[in-house]
Amino acid sequence: MKSSLQTKSRAENDPLRRYLSKTTDSKKMYNFARKFLAGGQSHNARFFNPYPFYAARARNQYIWDVDNNRYVDYWMGHTALILGHSPKVVTYELRDQIDNGLLFGAPNRFAVELAELVSKCVPCAESVRFCTTGAEATMYAVRLARAYTKRKTAVKIAGGWHGYNSTLAVGVSYPYQISESAGLLEEDEKLVKLARFNDIEATDQVLSENSSDLAAVILEPVLGAGGVIPAEPEYLKTLRQECDKLGALLIFDEIITGFRLALGGAQEFYGIKPDLCTLGKILGGGLPASAVAGGSEILSLADTTIERAKRERCWIGGGTFSENALSMTAGIATLKHLRTKRGSIYSSIGNFGKQVREEVDQVFADHSIRTKTTGEGSLFATHFLNPNQVEIKRPEDVVMSDNLTTREYYFSLIATQGIFFIPGHIGAISTAHTKADISHFVKSTANFAEHLARSRSSTHK
Ligand SMILES: Cc1ncc(COP(=O)(O)O)c(C=O)c1O
Repeated sequence: MKSSLQTKSRAENDPLRRYLSKTTDSKKMYNFARKFLAGGQSHNARFFNPYPFYAARARNQYIWDVDNNRYVDYWMGHTALILGHSPKVVTYELRDQIDNGLLFGAPNRFAVELAELVSKCVPCAESVRFCTTGAEATMYAVRLARAYTKRKTAVKIAGGWHGYNSTLAVGVSYPYQISESAGLLEEDEKLVKLARFNDIEATDQVLSENSSDLAAVILEPVLGAGGVIPAEPEYLKTLRQECDKLGALLIFDEIITGFRLALGGAQEFYGIKPDLCTLGKILGGGLPASAVAGGSEILSLADTTIERAKRERCWIGGGTFSENALSMTAGIATLKHLRTKRGSIYSSIGNFGKQVREEVDQVFADHSIRTKTTGEGSLFATHFLNPNQVEIKRPEDVVMSDNLTTREYYFSLIATQGIFFIPGHIGAISTAHTKADISHFVKSTANFAEHLARSRSSTHK
């Protein structure tokens, strides 16, 4: 007779064995890639054990790897692809543009059109400046806030993620007080203070301790990498009031939530207008584009046509590839489509998100496994609760949850069900996903739950 330990180990190793056997070309590519790319690829989040699959092509809701395995994709290009992979409304326009200039390196009509669209969609966006990545946009937003207020301190959320610029790569991963990276300067880190998400009292305390030098509070209205956790409306309302009271700027990092929670992003969804916001991901329609947007008076500090002393200007206008014709074209096509179809798109992907959040937790509960699937609208992530946990309200709760099982769950979906998430990261539903995809996802989760419950009960025998 097999021992319960053997049974458990067999059960646990099964998805791994299946992954190894179906991804042999990915494994070869990973080993080859490591010779030229540090770690085999270029974004830390994209790696998962034992090696990530290497993508070959993608279309609509699907992504294929180099071994020709097909996956229903819920990572969707770091959540950027709200219309799915290579949507016709975007590729049609791109084909037309490809022979007419990729990068003008000059002001162009496409950037003007996209800026006007952003301004029409996003409540705080009186004025816009484009850049290329989210990390650039959030760095510029804080620089603008410091220039505008003539103060230095920024408050961010412990566990909040704003990209790897040297300004805001502070307090991202637990333990939050330890520097995120060799090479960052303590002098810079000291100017960023950490607030506890969804905790009004603790945040008030940080704000009042820094009130005389407070330039900005920056946060994601729905934490992304921190666990896909929505801000409580009262928390955002309090931040708005406190920033007004203290003469600091409120910055919403809407790089994930922009054009996703609603056409006007989280600021429309929550009905709270920040002074500045950062946009990215969906903005570029699958190509690189980001933006800082906000009140004209603040953005005018970046207007170099206005006569000012050098130290009075805020220099945020670098970027060889900013306003490149392809990103602007893809962005225009995407936003126009979202704007035209806003009445149906947001309710449809939002309902799918709600269904996933409810049904995934129910499926696990049916097997006496305690989970909390967090999120808002079309965004979600499942967390396995430890025995003493009741809720997931902030990134610290995610840290304390059973992350090993979370990874096991998502890895098992990749290995055995043809469903792709980056294990432990955000899930994002696009307009390409169908009712059948969502049912398949919930059914696949039920298979995993059954397997997990069985392996847990055999361990306890
Ligand atoms: C909320 C948020 N801000 C900023 C960034 C950084 O954007 P990028 O990866 O384009 O630099 C990200 C990236 O995932 C993000 O989720």
